[in-house]
Amino acid sequence: MSNTGSTGTGTRTVQRIIQALPTSDGAGVKLRRSLGSSQFARLDPFLMLDEFSSFDPNDYIAGFPSHPHRGFETVTYLLDGHMLHEDHLGNRGDLKTGAVQWMTAGRGIIHSEMPQQEDGRMRGFQLWINLPAREKMKPAGYRDIDPSEIPVVDLPGGGRVKIIAGTTYMDGRPVPGPIQGLTTDPLYIDVELPAGVAFSQPIAVDYNAFIYIFEGSADVGPAEATKNLDTHAAAVLADGDQVEVRAGTGGARFLLLAGRPLGEPVVQYGPFVMNTREEIEQAIRDYQSGELTRAPAAPAR
Ligand code: FE2
Repeated sequence: MSNTGSTGTGTRTVQRIIQALPTSDGAGVKLRRSLGSSQFARLDPFLMLDEFSSFDPNDYIAGFPSHPHRGFETVTYLLDGHMLHEDHLGNRGDLKTGAVQWMTAGRGIIHSEMPQQEDGRMRGFQLWINLPAREKMKPAGYRDIDPSEIPVVDLPGGGRVKIIAGTTYMDGRPVPGPIQGLTTDPLYIDVELPAGVAFSQPIAVDYNAFIYIFEGSADVGPAEATKNLDTHAAAVLADGDQVEVRAGTGGARFLLLAGRPLGEPVVQYGPFVMNTREEIEQAIRDYQSGELTRAPAAPAR
């Protein structure tokens, strides 16, 4: 199948490659940032994707002490390690290997995300997904997803898919992940392929999609126009109704993400993501005054 241009159907080609850049955040956690490494490296509705991976506790042990968020969702997927989440609402979430925390900051949350291990590998991802204007001020909430709640589909040619959000298909049969029904309707899958094995996933034509390779390499796109992506490369995908990926000679492991774009202005100031500068200034004032985490007096707009 090939790209047929203006109809939007066919296999999505690689439109743009974003190399993950080494950076640090929180109290000095070393990570690699692909999406969100600049304001030009976003893909509506996705704002940021960080990968952290280290065997050295000095790279992660200081964690992310108490900090605020407003206006979007954060998704933490822990591949290896042990992380404790605590927030101002009194929620405590113990993230272990394979677990996901889906947090909706909404109007405001103040939380900490602290590694609980002192040795061994800490590895995982944090993804930021925007909220539409009408949901930015909804009450904060979060959901801890145990690894047992995340379906795993074994692929016929070898390899497997873990479905965190959205739906994948096995022999035409839908396999839904635990997160469904959000306005941005995100697809979030973790795919592992042995060398040379191919995988395809249907994606709605009007959704934005990107892939992030975190082990090995892969050829992405229709057979006549594949691009080879190496470890730590993200690729924004062009229009189409499906994605095709073939693992390189060393196999591949990657995240495939897609979502319904919001088409709204994005104004970000650190951990606050709103639609206007005035709303950002309000968020800063609300954080300083304690209003950020006070229960709303009136229903969210
Ligand atoms: Fe956070």
